[in-house]
Amino acid sequence: MLKENEIMKFLFDVKHPAKGDKNIVELGMVDKVEIDGGKVKVTLAFPKRRDPLADYLIGSVKAAIYRQAPEVTEIEVDTIVREAAQKKQPGLNLGLEEVNNVAHIIGVASGKGGVGKSTVAVNLAVALARLGYKVGLADADVYGPSVPIMTGTEDQMPEAEEKDGKELILPIEKYGVKWMSIGYFAEKGQALIWRGPMACNALKQMILQVHWGELDFLLIDMPPGTGDIHISLVNDIPMEGAVIVTTPQAVALSDVEKGVDMFRNDKINRKIFGLVENMAWFTPEELPENKYYIFGKNGGVEMARHFGIPLLGQIPIVQGIRESGDSGEPAALSSRPDGVAFVNLAKNLVEEIMK
Ligand SMILES: Nc1ncnc2c1ncn2[C@@H]1O[C@H](COP(=O)(O)OP(=O)(O)OP(=O)(O)O)[C@@H](O)[C@H]1O
Ligand SMILES: [Mg+2]
Repeated sequence: MLKENEIMKFLFDVKHPAKGDKNIVELGMVDKVEIDGGKVKVTLAFPKRRDPLADYLIGSVKAAIYRQAPEVTEIEVDTIVREAAQKKQPGLNLGLEEVNNVAHIIGVASGKGGVGKSTVAVNLAVALARLGYKVGLADADVYGPSVPIMTGTEDQMPEAEEKDGKELILPIEKYGVKWMSIGYFAEKGQALIWRGPMACNALKQMILQVHWGELDFLLIDMPPGTGDIHISLVNDIPMEGAVIVTTPQAVALSDVEKGVDMFRNDKINRKIFGLVENMAWFTPEELPENKYYIFGKNGGVEMARHFGIPLLGQIPIVQGIRESGDSGEPAALSSRPDGVAFVNLAKNLVEEIMK
């Protein structure tokens, strides 16, 4: 089944000859794409009533779709007149206005996946809110967004609002935190998000096209890994610095190094506020005093020393953390030892940032 965003992608091929060869998506001329079985309807917005190139562009739209999607049986192209169509197109010319009132933008990163980065990010956000700060969290993992489930907000759909001719997304508020994730748009309402260039831009939209308002902290749950997409993200978002999450194994050292390099290299040059050692030890529910160092003892302490960065916190492996992630009630809300561990982590991070 063809999706609206795929059609949108095909339309990147349709260049406007009078506009320096920019494509019609980029120019904000694609108002709507509708699909009904094999039928596709595209609505193009023109800034004035009689654009001499209208017929040419309509023909090019049809050709671009038929060429790339032979399964399409019928294409209808409608036109509307809309002044300054360009301004209405979100996702492009993303400015920094929406994060201008955020005091500290902090990336939560890891060299590799599965270390509990999202768990730490979500709980850190809740813990900061418990300390009285205004907090937002942007889930920048476009491929495996986990924030909606971890916060029990997966049934919610963010609303859009218009401000100065720009479409903004309103974050979901719960547990005193403003949440945003591409997961909210995964099934329904895709058009809003996937309008405009794809993944990388979608990711930036999750941060820059959101009406955050005034915040003390905006955490960014970075996608796992340290590839180009990360570098571009760190480059384009005014992140002050990062927190790196790791597990204690000696083999994780090289992953942490990649994470550290991503922020510390000459081109990017951001601060590393510290390391979080997740899964530092295992504590069974029925023996809360016992600590089993199943991934090795003091791995995090040694890594922090190795890189000359503070160890901000040690989070144990407890069943409650996983369960609360699955049930959408973050562990940081509780007064159990693991909840306290997250609150201490938040306190240490604030102290480090304020230095
Ligand atoms: N300290 C912990 N104790 C118990 N379970 C944990 C702990 N930290 C993470 N988990 C569980 O481990 C799994 C992976 O965690 P999470 O999704 O946070 O990792 P991630 O690094 O964000 O992964 P990805 O790379 O896929 O984004 C989840 O099921 C989570 O509930
Ligand atoms: Mg994750």
